[in-house]
Amino acid sequence: VEQTYIMIKPDGVQRGLVGEIISRFERKGFKLTGLKLFQCPKELAEEHYKDLQSKPFFPKLIDYITSGPVVCMAWEGVGVVASARKLIGATNPLNAEPGTIRGDLAVQTGRNVVHGSDSPDNGKREIALWFKEGELCSWEAVQGPWLVE
Ligand code: GTP
Ligand code: MG
Repeated sequence: VEQTYIMIKPDGVQRGLVGEIISRFERKGFKLTGLKLFQCPKELAEEHYKDLQSKPFFPKLIDYITSGPVVCMAWEGVGVVASARKLIGATNPLNAEPGTIRGDLAVQTGRNVVHGSDSPDNGKREIALWFKEGELCSWEAVQGPWLVE
């Protein structure tokens, strides 16, 4: 089954949105397989966002992500990568539809409260980057056949 890496950024933690954001993924029907509060070191932030290294906003992005604790999560489910991106909404909250996390809870790209992997391959890469072996939990959810035929 597909997995994705979701992270509540420091602004989401500071603004008290952790429960609200987790709840949206839970209610959709995805399964949480990893969860921790974590102060991200600079090197890890740089590795995570290495594709954006050449962008002018890169230093600001690294400062933002390391400015306070983040909530690291692994979520599993049918189509979870693309579906999570839809739940999260457009990168710029100005363009994010109401009903999405960024559309409902954020106003600016540089403070867009949550990250989601953009492909199944990146989901795997990012989960391996942010979690150690033993921090992830594989479990059977009781809702199984009520969620997927
Ligand atoms: P993530 O889920 O965080 O990866 O966002 P995304 O996939 O919607 O966007 P992208 O990967 O292109 O950019 C990663 C993050 O960099 C964004 O979520 C923003 O926090 C930040 N970012 C992207 N573009 C800008 C920008 O133009 N200015 C600023 N300040 N930050 C930006
Ligand atoms: Mg991205």
